[in-house]
Amino acid sequence: MMPARHFISLLDLSGDEFRNLIARAIYLKNNRDPDFQPLKGKVLAMIFEKSSTRTRVSFEAGMAQLGGSALFLSPRDTQLGRGEPLSDSAKVISSMVDCIMIRTYDHATVEIFARHSHVPVINALTDLLHPCQLLADMQTYFELKGNIAGKTVCWIGDGNNMCHSYIHAAYLLGFKLHIATPNDYQPDNSILELADERVQLFSNPEQAAVGADLIVTDVWASMGQEEEQKQREKAFKTYQVNDLVMAKANENAIFMHCLPAHRGEEVTATVMDGEQSVVFIEAENRLHAQKALLEFLICA
Ligand code: CP
Ligand code: NVA
Repeated sequence: MMPARHFISLLDLSGDEFRNLIARAIYLKNNRDPDFQPLKGKVLAMIFEKSSTRTRVSFEAGMAQLGGSALFLSPRDTQLGRGEPLSDSAKVISSMVDCIMIRTYDHATVEIFARHSHVPVINALTDLLHPCQLLADMQTYFELKGNIAGKTVCWIGDGNNMCHSYIHAAYLLGFKLHIATPNDYQPDNSILELADERVQLFSNPEQAAVGADLIVTDVWASMGQEEEQKQREKAFKTYQVNDLVMAKANENAIFMHCLPAHRGEEVTATVMDGEQSVVFIEAENRLHAQKALLEFLICA
């Protein structure tokens, strides 16, 4: 049996495969055909250890639209929550379904699952990475602005899972990435190791935004960091995407946020709901980008 092709990190794709997925996602979005059912009879198991709106709805709707179906599995109701080894669970679940999607805390959980799964495993967010969101973000950029190679993206806020996946995307698609974080919240060294001269670290958000074609941010406290909320509010106070930051960017720059957003914290309502914001196109594109991903992994 051929080993399954997993999507644990964007680095599981080549640059060409990433660009092809983006093109395919744009095609699927613009050519909706209810008779196109390449995943007829196929089943996706979705394991969620953390909350989700976009990821759950987009994977479930995407499977249904391509002719397949999806199962929602919560550790609360499965033996995963009672300590059954990940390796055993992966062998069992993958013997019954065609693809497995996992959202969890520890990145190693997804890696262990993938090692023992006979079918493709998709990382639907870990504390380290959020590669599915980058498929949608990059689809959105290509759709609205064209090729991102050589452009400048500015990340403002926490050096978190989203920021790490942006570093991977910069590497694969060839854009410049300015990252403005407080000193104690820089991206992991393990991820930065990959970054070359394309990635530049800043401590001042307005300086980082100069010349940007895309400004991106995310929540100050991610899922699992709720107890740090107060301390993070202090540390990130000046790391907000507001009108002053947007004014430093290129005139036709766009704003993205993976959502959910906290207006008044990492982004002002004026930016979030303003003309440069494309956050709801970005959210919808989770559906189209993941349909392209499911087709790529399951039909391969
Ligand atoms: N952006 C994102 O992954 O949203 P959910 O947490 O709602 O899935
Ligand atoms: N960084 C956020 C992203 C949510 C989609 C989190 O991990 O909670």
